[in-house]
Amino acid sequence: MSDLLILNGRLIDPANGIDGERDLLVRDGRVAAVEAPGALKNIAAAETIDATGQVVAPGLIDVHVHLREPGQTYKETIATGTAAAAAGGFTSVIAMPNTVPVNDTVAKLEWMLDAARRSAVKLFAMPAATLGSMGVTLTDFEALRAAGAVGFTDDGKPVLEDHVMRAALVAAARAEVPISQHAEDTRLTGGCSMNAGQVAFRLGLRGMTVEAEARIVERDIRLLREIEATEGLRPHLHVQHVSTARAMEAIRAAKREGLHVTCEVAPHHFTLTDEAIGDYDTHAKMNPPLRVEADRAAMVASLLDGTADCIATDHAPHAAHEKEQEFERAPNGITGLETSLGLALRVLHREQGLSLSRIIALMSAAPAAIAGLAGRGSLSMGHFADVVLFDAGSEWRYDAAKTLSRSRNTPFDGAEMLGKVRATICEGRVVYRG
Ligand code: DOR
Repeated sequence: MSDLLILNGRLIDPANGIDGERDLLVRDGRVAAVEAPGALKNIAAAETIDATGQVVAPGLIDVHVHLREPGQTYKETIATGTAAAAAGGFTSVIAMPNTVPVNDTVAKLEWMLDAARRSAVKLFAMPAATLGSMGVTLTDFEALRAAGAVGFTDDGKPVLEDHVMRAALVAAARAEVPISQHAEDTRLTGGCSMNAGQVAFRLGLRGMTVEAEARIVERDIRLLREIEATEGLRPHLHVQHVSTARAMEAIRAAKREGLHVTCEVAPHHFTLTDEAIGDYDTHAKMNPPLRVEADRAAMVASLLDGTADCIATDHAPHAAHEKEQEFERAPNGITGLETSLGLALRVLHREQGLSLSRIIALMSAAPAAIAGLAGRGSLSMGHFADVVLFDAGSEWRYDAAKTLSRSRNTPFDGAEMLGKVRATICEGRVVYRG
């Protein structure tokens, strides 16, 4: 592969404490030089990108996406989902295992990661923690780890039994990867389709309580403490898409105690409340559900004070005919890869004053560290040349009709975004041009 030069940009690389004008040289898919403006002018590159007025940052990383392949390719494929990822500035995504069939064996994992799936960006996967995500028998962590697993999760089906979750945390600690848990005590949420509260009351819908999320987070933290005390292991619990102030408070306390807990917050949970459901709008239906303003504010606060480790989209494509049903019948989930950066910049940067560097860290260095993605998440010398170029000041409106995803189930159609992606470069290849 030949050289690529990115000149005159504002390079923000939080992992290396850089925020300033730099030129970047990419060679053979890797970062070959980061220099003061002009220092690379004698290099004859095959392509030169003029990044004047643009931010040049490590490619974004999403630890939580649903790509629907195998089994539900009418919603999304690995090729279409990762094309949407590239358009959103992402260079790595981690696929959840709730495909059909569930990704719970080496053969399935290898099939997903195969080049024949035509991923536009780097694809990683977290296979199921238990066979079929049934919460009973652990999958083969060692074999799956050797085949590329970057963590384990039963995703939408949390591991409920204490002894199974304990065994999963122990096995994951031995394999040196996280257990990523969707925190919902599903024994308390049967028949619920949104957040419990005034809006659910008005709509006549059954609601999921704060308790259902917090109980699993609190139980998992207790297990971490027990395992550290008795097994001499230090398991890593990653809590997915935290949506309630109470669960976030439990995570804050666990971090203070020194336990290895990380968590993610989804853009919709720091942007919207359950009021967005309006008159039964299924595009505002997801799990965990949109909560009340105090919870939304707590998610923002957690991103500002560092309790939340990263932003993850929970990109969950569904077909139009599935969302165009009665609210209680429609599936949970919204697409998110093309709107994540625009919402983060609008809400966290412009409205809340969080620095660009922090937002980029929440979307690159931090998720790389959580999932142990070596050589990614920063523009260090020799690292993969995973880069996003964006115009931080440009205001635009999201048009779901133009999505590269196969699905359009988003509450953000027409919503205001800040920061337009101009180019996404994955391992030195330009995979998207805006
Ligand atoms: O909103 C959601 N969608 N939450 C989940 O837990 C699963 C996901 C999906 O796969 O559609």
